[in-house]
Amino acid sequence: MSVNVGDLDAIAVDARQRIGAASDEAALEQVRVELLGKKGALTGALRGLGSLPADQRAAAGARANALKGEIETMLASRARELQAARLQTLGDQEWIDMTFVPSPVRRGHLHPLTLILREVKAIFSRLGYEVALGPQVEDEFHNFEALNIPQEHPARDTMDSFYVDADHLLLRTHTSPVQIRYMLSHEPPIRIIAPGAVYRRDATDPSHASQFYQVEGLVVDRDIRLSDLKGTIEYFARSLFGPDRRIRIVGDHFPFTEPSIAAAVSCGICGGAGCRSCKGGWLEILGAGMVHPQVLRNGGVDPDHYSGFAFGAGLDRLAMLKYNVTDLRLFLENDVRFLKQF
Ligand code: DAH
Repeated sequence: MSVNVGDLDAIAVDARQRIGAASDEAALEQVRVELLGKKGALTGALRGLGSLPADQRAAAGARANALKGEIETMLASRARELQAARLQTLGDQEWIDMTFVPSPVRRGHLHPLTLILREVKAIFSRLGYEVALGPQVEDEFHNFEALNIPQEHPARDTMDSFYVDADHLLLRTHTSPVQIRYMLSHEPPIRIIAPGAVYRRDATDPSHASQFYQVEGLVVDRDIRLSDLKGTIEYFARSLFGPDRRIRIVGDHFPFTEPSIAAAVSCGICGGAGCRSCKGGWLEILGAGMVHPQVLRNGGVDPDHYSGFAFGAGLDRLAMLKYNVTDLRLFLENDVRFLKQF
């Protein structure tokens, strides 16, 4: 094919028109290929230069090279226009409001009973205790008999316990059965706490619920004395409630301990003088005592060689005292307005 300057002029007019008409960057690229690509119009024209008569070849060649430069310039400037237009649309459609204040990420909270339990575990682990667990569905042997709670004891009244199976399996009414299970499966020395849920058929009110939590303690070794128990209670109560609290220990009665005691801490609000929230200056935190020799025997431990102490505290009660919560039921309701205060 031969070309002449007229053909080149036609290519120039056509190129200007098509470049201007390209409506986006992809269309412009298409136009570029059609003009300058291997099979493009200008490329074809350049290739045809060789067949021109020598006198025309130089002028046509110069014109063709100039045209190539013009086309490249036109392409580049159209490309800039199209890119600017694209970015403008993008900015209109996909803008980001840098002044927008997102709602804050809400953090979860540990349940107050979880916090108390963690603290109790930390305190006793400093004293070398391990954590032991027992089943929540218990049998009468572990929950009652082995703990010296005979058949006719009021705690066995079905009014107090939830039985799940023809009078023999029940939801444990306290964590004390873990004492028996642990002694039967471990040799002394024993030093454990056993936290967990317990169940009683109590009418619900601000200080009673049919499900609550206890933490049991059991120490069995040679020469364990009441003074060891007293020191342990004092260390525990001061660690949990602060060094300024006074501890009061009074006699009590439990079938599985002899002697039995109850421990109270001085009220943090009135300092022990007595106020509306403590009614008398003292707040009871746990029951305890020296493990009854028969209970040791029921756990497979020889009371002639070993002695021990045990204690049982209401975890809910400890949390109520520590966090000044006045209604036990709040711990079970999971109202976030309550939980997020901890
Ligand atoms: N098991 C008792 C209760 O539920 C609490 C208790 C008292 C546990 C004295 C003990 C203890 O280990 O020595 O009321």
